[in-house]
Formats: sequence, structure tokens, C-alpha cells
Amino acid sequence: MCKNWLFGKKIIITGASSGIGFDVAKILAVKYFCHVIGTGRNQEKLKNAKQEIEKQAEENYLKANKKYREKYGKGSFNFYSFDVADENSWKELKEFLKNKKFSPDIIINNAGMFLEFERAETQDIDKILKVFNTNFLSQVYSYKTFVDVLKKNKGGLVNISSSAALCPVVGAAAYSASKAASKNFTESIREEHKKEFYIAGVYPGFTKTNLFHEHKEISKLVLSVCQPADKVAKKIVKGIAKRKRRIVIGKDAHLMSGMYRMFPKGTPSLIANVLSASHDKMFDKVFVDNQAKRTKKKKSKK
Ligand SMILES: NC(=O)c1ccc[n+]([C@@H]2O[C@H](COP(=O)([O-])OP(=O)(O)OC[C@H]3O[C@@H](n4cnc5c(N)ncnc54)[C@H](OP(=O)(O)O)[C@@H]3O)[C@@H](O)[C@H]2O)c1
Repeated sequence: MCKNWLFGKKIIITGASSGIGFDVAKILAVKYFCHVIGTGRNQEKLKNAKQEIEKQAEENYLKANKKYREKYGKGSFNFYSFDVADENSWKELKEFLKNKKFSPDIIINNAGMFLEFERAETQDIDKILKVFNTNFLSQVYSYKTFVDVLKKNKGGLVNISSSAALCPVVGAAAYSASKAASKNFTESIREEHKKEFYIAGVYPGFTKTNLFHEHKEISKLVLSVCQPADKVAKKIVKGIAKRKRRIVIGKDAHLMSGMYRMFPKGTPSLIANVLSASHDKMFDKVFVDNQAKRTKKKKSKK
């Protein structure tokens, strides 16, 4: 299959209203002339995304080579708003698209959420369930709903996981577990559909988006390794274009993955030590002594 298999495809991207999903949708609609259905819960954010993406799609279409214009037409972005954690809503989305005669070639399950960095023992069980439903079960619902269509279209399924699936992260137990579930599910079903359609797992490291909105202040350590969302999106699309099955993005993700494979016991401890030593407020609910130590230090300085 050639590198250009993405051109003009019909694609569903969940969580396309902001962050990585928005940038992936933009590249696909603008540069690859794709017809994207972007999803999210907030209609206003999706409307803004449509405006920005379709403006750029129009500009690119007018500049494009006549051959491309005639073959693919102009890329588009339309939206559908629903909660990915609700199984019934997936069925409704399928029905809606069927009525619109939109048969997706590719589905990118990107919508996800993060909780505050916190010890699992104090984390609310409802929040843990919400993370699991949003990050993992949503991808199962998506797969179960559209597997027949993906088979028929010989299309693609791309599940966005995280570097936290490649090495568990202290203070993010539920998130790491939900992303590891996504990874193993993706890698298992890939074997079942090897000859039928393309399946990939994506493992980005820290990326500058709204994902950490529960934290008022982002740790300097995290900011120092954070990549811009548009760069991450470019690498995701490049990986899909090359039909890569495992797309690891960012130095932090590669480091975590490599070290965990070599030192499965030591690497989670090393990460814990580094985060604790940063004394960043972002990790206060994980290393509960750090805040007390900081206050003591401040007092002694006075
Ligand atoms: N940022 C990072 O450092 C990082 C690292 C590794 C992996 N990732 C993964 O990358 C993916 C995208 O995250 P991001 O960083 O781009 O964060 P983001 O900017 O917060 O985007 C999350 C997107 O998901 C949507 N969403 C969240 N919960 C949803 C729900 N229950 N139903 C429907 N849509 C929902 C949001 O839209 P609405 O709010 O409108 O619903 C938004 O469009 C996530 O799966 C995340 O875990 C991120």
C-alpha cells in the first residue's frame, strides 16, 4: 500500500475540539483532503474547530495541484457531539453517519482525560472509573460499533494511548492502567484483523495541551519535556501514512519505553525519585511530605 493511502479518506477523530486531536484533524483535512468527522462534548469548541480547519482547507485547496483538486476535492471538517464513554452514543453516531452516507475508512480514538497527580489511595473511585471509561472502554465501544465497516472498507483503527502505557507513572495509577489497557487491547485485536484492516497504537510523551487542566500550575520539569501538540500531530499522521503499528513520540516516551524494557523494576522508582526531587507543587498530592518540607524551608529562611 502506498504512502498516499490517507489522501481523500473519510475519517472519524474523537476529541478533535482541542489539543492533539484538533491538530491531527487539521492536517488530515487540509493537507490530505480528508473528510473528517470530529467529535467532542463541547459544541462551541467544535464549531470553532470547524471554522479554523475549513478556512485552511479552502486555502490549501485553491493552491493545490489541479490533479489533486480533481481527484480528492476539498477537505472538510464536520462535527458530532457526544460522550465517548457512553456505549449507546456510539450506536447513535453509526446510525447518524449511515443516514449521511458517510462510511468511515479510518477511526482515530483520541479523546481522553487525566486526573490530578495524586496517590491512588486518596483518589475517588468514581473518578477512577471515569478515566477508565473515557480512555479505555470508549475505544472498545468504538471498535465494536465500527469493526464491520472497517473490515468492509479495509480501513484503519488508531488508538491513542500514552507513554504511561509503556512505563507506569507514580501518582497516575488509574491513567497509566487505562492507557496500558488500551495498548494491550489494540495489540491483541491487531493480530485478529491482520489481513483485514490496519490497526495502530500511539504512545506520545508529555504534550502541551489542556489535558492537565486540573492542575493550576504545571511543573517546570513537565514543561521542560513537553512537545507542542502540532508537532506530535504531525508525527502521528506521518506514522499512520507509513502504516506503522506502534507510534512512539517524544524523547521522554522513547526513554521511558527503552528503560522500562531493560529495567522493569528500577525505572518506575527512578521516575518517582525524579518527580519527588523536583519539589514541584504539581506532585504534592503524591509526595505528601514535600509541601511540609517546602513550608519549613521557607520559615527557616525568614
Ligand atoms: N497531553 C499529553 O501530555 C498526552 C500525553 C500522552 C497521551 N495523551 C493522550 O492524547 C489524547 C488527547 O489529549 P490532549 O492532550 O490533546 O488533551 P485535550 O486538549 O484535553 O483534548 C482532549 C479531547 O478529548 C475530548 N474529550 C475528553 N473527554 C471526552 C469524553 N468523555 N467524550 C468525548 N470527548 C471527550 C475533549 O473535548 P471536550 O472537552 O469537548 O469533550 C478534547 O477534544 C488523550 O487520549 C490523552 O490521554 C496526551
